[in-house]
Amino acid sequence: MELKSKVAIVTGGAVRIGQAITLALAREGCDILIHYGRSSGPAKETLASVEAIGAKATIHQADLSDPDAVRGIVPAAVSHFGRVDILINNGAIFLPGGLKETTQDMWERQFAINLRAPFFLCQALANQIPKNGRGAIVNITDARIFRPAADHVAYRLTKSALLTMTETFAQDLAPRIAVNALALGAILPPPGKGEDHLRKLSQTRIPLGIPGDPDMVADNLIHLLRQDFLTGVTIRIDGGEFL
Ligand SMILES: NC(=O)c1ccc[n+]([C@@H]2O[C@H](COP(=O)([O-])OP(=O)(O)OC[C@H]3O[C@@H](n4cnc5c(N)ncnc54)[C@H](OP(=O)(O)O)[C@@H]3O)[C@@H](O)[C@H]2O)c1
Repeated sequence: MELKSKVAIVTGGAVRIGQAITLALAREGCDILIHYGRSSGPAKETLASVEAIGAKATIHQADLSDPDAVRGIVPAAVSHFGRVDILINNGAIFLPGGLKETTQDMWERQFAINLRAPFFLCQALANQIPKNGRGAIVNITDARIFRPAADHVAYRLTKSALLTMTETFAQDLAPRIAVNALALGAILPPPGKGEDHLRKLSQTRIPLGIPGDPDMVADNLIHLLRQDFLTGVTIRIDGGEFL
């Protein structure tokens, strides 16, 4: 897909990995709806950075756990830019907890934000791309799903289902919309942990011996979007950690 002048939505596009994706799309000449939840300051700063690159953007607040708010995201982009071509489902939460510790509230919040919101955003995108149109979806999942373990159990289930959803919609939405995923390893430390955490992890657990970074994610995302013969594909960006 030629990316210049395409319209993209990036959920959680104001901070961390989402921000790197937003800026990479802007450098490719995309117009972008930068979705955010709580990060209104970073959203305005990211908007300014996108405009400094020379691309167009708008910011849009929506709580991904609220179905009504999710329903408003694609229409907001359409009312600003006239259409949407690309959806990046990046926004998510990552809660600890195995079987014993996971409460119903933790389960429901993670499934709502990490899975229900991406599902209905895919539906909304598919509904607004015309019969003979072309679009692309990239779901951001987690490479740890390739090696099941008992920690972060509800989170893992949401990200496993996101992979299944990617393959299902790749079939369902072809040939109009390519649906692919990026499965991330150690890219940025989780809240409360510093860079040291990733450095140590990279020395002990990552075959390639280095942690990832958000620009590696963004580079792979741009590569994926440019491919005309890929759908239902998941690129692992994990330095081999979960092989
Ligand atoms: N960090 C890693 O190394 C790593 C590893 C594997 C997978 N991943 C995946 O990569 C993606 C980005 O990771 P990250 O570390 O950059 O995530 P993060 O720092 O935790 O940021 C999460 C993003 O999701 C948005 N979000 C969360 N809950 C929301 C809600 N209720 N409503 C609206 N927005 C909400 C946040 O927006 P606001 O800040 O505006 O609220 C934020 O932009 C996620 O899908 C994550 O699962 C990351």
